[in-house]
Amino acid sequence: MTNKKKNLLSLYVHWPYCESKCPYCDFNSHVTEDVDKDAWIKSYTNQLYEYKSLLDKFDVKFDNLSTIFFGGGTPSLMPVEILDHILNISSKIFKFKDDIEISLEANPSSYEREKFKYMHKLGINRISIGVQSLNDKNLQFLGRKHNYRDAETAIDLATNTFNNVSIDLIYALYEQNIDDWQNELQSVLNKFNINHLSAYQLTIEKGTRFFKDFKKGLLKTVDNDLAAEFFTRTKTILNEHNFQRYEISNFAKEKFESEHNLNYWNSENWIGIGPGAYGRMWYSNQDNKRVEIKNYKNPKTWLNKNYQNSEFENINIFNQYESDIDTLIMGLRLRKGIEIEKLNNKSIIQETKFKELEKEKLIIIDNDKIKINDDHLIKLDSILSYIIN
Ligand SMILES: C[S@@+](CC[C@H](N)C(=O)[O-])C[C@H]1O[C@@H](n2cnc3c(N)ncnc32)[C@H](O)[C@@H]1O
Ligand code: SF4
Repeated sequence: MTNKKKNLLSLYVHWPYCESKCPYCDFNSHVTEDVDKDAWIKSYTNQLYEYKSLLDKFDVKFDNLSTIFFGGGTPSLMPVEILDHILNISSKIFKFKDDIEISLEANPSSYEREKFKYMHKLGINRISIGVQSLNDKNLQFLGRKHNYRDAETAIDLATNTFNNVSIDLIYALYEQNIDDWQNELQSVLNKFNINHLSAYQLTIEKGTRFFKDFKKGLLKTVDNDLAAEFFTRTKTILNEHNFQRYEISNFAKEKFESEHNLNYWNSENWIGIGPGAYGRMWYSNQDNKRVEIKNYKNPKTWLNKNYQNSEFENINIFNQYESDIDTLIMGLRLRKGIEIEKLNNKSIIQETKFKELEKEKLIIIDNDKIKINDDHLIKLDSILSYIIN
């Protein structure tokens, strides 16, 4: 057996609804008026039991559940009865690790921040707030319903309730002044005791309103040089505040890295319930092949397919080459890179395309690790698509 110590298991729960659809977002998120709580509870429960039998069938090695992540959409809008039920039933089906990390993504609106204390009581111990921008003009441009004052109140409440608080920011907007961004970032880090920050440069995703505007010439994006400068300054300020970058867009104070996301990037086992959620695990009886389990994406279809009995859209077993490429693609996002011993076939990195990337100094291969050269992080997506193709 080549793959080392795959004994962690994470659970991702997708809640697909939001108050409104943001013009830049291509996540599986929708606006709805009606939520049949009982139907959702039943469908999530059916999926958890179905996963339990699949984990047995594929003889997946894990000790207990190490993390849960409620993502979306906007899971802070999820009725608390559903949240409570998922936590209860998953603790019965799987054993929770003593120091299990349970994260939830929250919007800063008043309705949601009022629920923080109750969520904490239910066992949520890490909250990630979608602040998105540090001034009102940019929040309006991003089509957000909250203003910066709401965000400040939410961060304040969150840091008084949870030990582990993260915020999401989107930067490098066309009309954003880089010095303003630097000052805003500095002041939020001085003011609040957060310990994790995800800083994403705005990307124009197909199918979004921003994509249509971009195509019509109504929306511009920053050029590559300015984007690189935004990234460098962001990294410098965060480092000055003791936040280290551990993944392309993720920064954390020591010991506050998101364990859940690390489990993805380290190619551990995870299961995903809810519309569009997917799971990946190691098939122990089949020479360490990766199994991918996908859910129906449309919320109504997903609910119909899982209400009586759980039905996944498909279950795909990767061959060993595909498993290695998957491990590489996930691991190369990490600053530390990936240990070569994790690959089934270590000689894969002798392939021409890896040699070329190494020659161009885009990746660094040493005795036991392969990683992206820090100076070329901004090219990560094109490096990864070159590897996949
Ligand atoms: C599922 S959303 C987060 C939860 C919550 N719905 C919210 O928006 O506050 C995950 C994060 O991805 C980031 N994101 C989404 N679309 C993006 C885009 N086109 N460019 C950059 N970041 C994006 C945002 O920072 C967002 O908070
Ligand atoms: S960014 Fe968040 S709130 Fe906005 S549509 Fe996407 S998931 Fe919903």
